Amino acid sequence: MKMFLPVLLCLCFWRLDGGFVSVKEGESVSLNSDLTEMKDDDVIQWWFGDENTVIAEINVTADRITVYDDVLDGRFRDRLKLDNQTGSLTITNTRTEHAGDYHLQINRKIKSFRIFVIVPESVMKGESVSLKSPLTEMKDYDVIQWRFEITLIAEINKRADRITVYDDVLDGRFRDRLKLDNQTGSLTITNTTTEHAGVYELQINSESKRFWLAVFDEVKSVSVKEGDSVSLNSNLTEMKEDEYYWVQWRFENTLIAEIDKWSDRITVYDDVLDGRFRDRLKLDNQTGSLTITNTTTEHAGDYKLPMITRRLSSKVFRVSVYDSVHCCGPTEAVIRLVLSALVGVATVIIVVYEIISRRAERDQAHIHTSGSIEI
Ligand SMILES: *[C@@H]1O[C@H](CO)[C@@H](O)[C@H](O)[C@H]1NC(C)=O
Ligand SMILES: *[C@@H]1O[C@H](CO)[C@@H](O)[C@H](O)[C@H]1NC(C)=O
Ligand SMILES: *[C@@H]1O[C@H](CO)[C@@H](O)[C@H](O)[C@H]1NC(C)=O
Ligand SMILES: *[C@@H]1O[C@H](CO)[C@@H](O)[C@H](O)[C@H]1NC(C)=O
Ligand SMILES: *[C@@H]1O[C@H](CO)[C@@H](O)[C@H](O)[C@H]1NC(C)=O
Ligand SMILES: *[C@@H]1O[C@H](CO)[C@@H](O)[C@H](O)[C@H]1NC(C)=O
Ligand SMILES: *[C@@H]1O[C@H](CO)[C@@H](O)[C@H](O)[C@H]1NC(C)=O
Repeated sequence: MKMFLPVLLCLCFWRLDGGFVSVKEGESVSLNSDLTEMKDDDVIQWWFGDENTVIAEINVTADRITVYDDVLDGRFRDRLKLDNQTGSLTITNTRTEHAGDYHLQINRKIKSFRIFVIVPESVMKGESVSLKSPLTEMKDYDVIQWRFEITLIAEINKRADRITVYDDVLDGRFRDRLKLDNQTGSLTITNTTTEHAGVYELQINSESKRFWLAVFDEVKSVSVKEGDSVSLNSNLTEMKEDEYYWVQWRFENTLIAEIDKWSDRITVYDDVLDGRFRDRLKLDNQTGSLTITNTTTEHAGDYKLPMITRRLSSKVFRVSVYDSVHCCGPTEAVIRLVLSALVGVATVIIVVYEIISRRAERDQAHIHTSGSIEI
């Protein structure tokens, strides 16, 4: 179902007046028609992709709503919802193949949207991370481009049989750090620093996939006595009202809590890991801080906080849980050792002092008694 050539030509220059919309892989995204109601003469069509394939339409005159979700190899099957009042389109359970340009035609007017599907990735500073391309092998005509923010950093052009890594851009922050897999187009960044945190975009021919890379720059040690609560502070209060953020809390690599300002959603996944966190997690929706109550040794480990925002840095909290009998986390152990050593030394000093002063008193008493002035 292709559109006519004039429309196609016109679309090439169409501005994205509907805007850019980002969505996390697996989630739903809605494209808003801005209509509040349909009139008798309204015909609405949604097109997707370079070839402007019609994926949904409403014909009010004919009282007909149609979703063509078998087109394009069924990539939209069971994923499209068309609002019969407003004509807005929702794509559920998004995958990277749903990224691209969507055009809405209402009668004669066209509105365009571009959807980015974002995949979160994270890495500890100094380590390597691979951003995976969905390809298993490249075809002879494929063109792959990698961008960091908007800067081109690597490119494979099979048509021209050329592989290029532009690692001198951006003041050389990628110098000698990029590895491009010439079979799949996957990109590896080695020896990462916090300068490498941000959005990476992979463009394969005309489809694009975005990654958000968080780089953990610090490991903080925290220890807690078994049965007590421990709070891990995310500093979200430093964010401004209009700043977007998306914060995840991960225990080792399992997602346990999430705040997404975009969809204004706060989620605590306390059933994961055989329920070891059940009824024990509190996520403060103002500060983003996570509290684990009634801790047991099962809760010891690395809590990772990848920040999907530029202003705050990503952190790892290394939590150790000690029981009240056998002490403790490394810091506590040292403090207790030092304290008991100090107490020991102090005791010796006091005892010695006592002995000396008793002896001095006794000697003085002897002097006094011998002088028989006082008792
Ligand atoms: C909408 O339906 C009416 C009545 O069936 C038909 O005449 C018209 O061509 C349809 N419009 C489109 C764009 O399909
Ligand atoms: C519109 O959708 C609502 C709920 O999804 C449904 O009850 C109603 O019949 C639909 N209207 C038309 C004209 O399809
Ligand atoms: C792809 O990479 C492999 C190993 O890194 C190399 O041997 C091969 O020549 C490369 N192919 C091309 C077309 O550059
Ligand atoms: C990693 O990068 C740092 C600078 O950020 C540099 O000092 C160090 O030598 C690099 N390590 C390796 C193994 O390349
Ligand atoms: C929160 O802010 C304090 C003080 O600015 C800083 O020391 C700490 O590392 C920050 N924590 C996080 C998780 O960013
Ligand atoms: C944040 O928490 C307060 C109290 O716990 C609650 O009243 C409010 O609805 C919450 N806000 C969101 C966005 O969940
Ligand atoms: C704390 O957890 C233990 C099991 O680990 C449970 O027996 C106890 O009732 C819990 N205490 C509170 C106050 O929830």
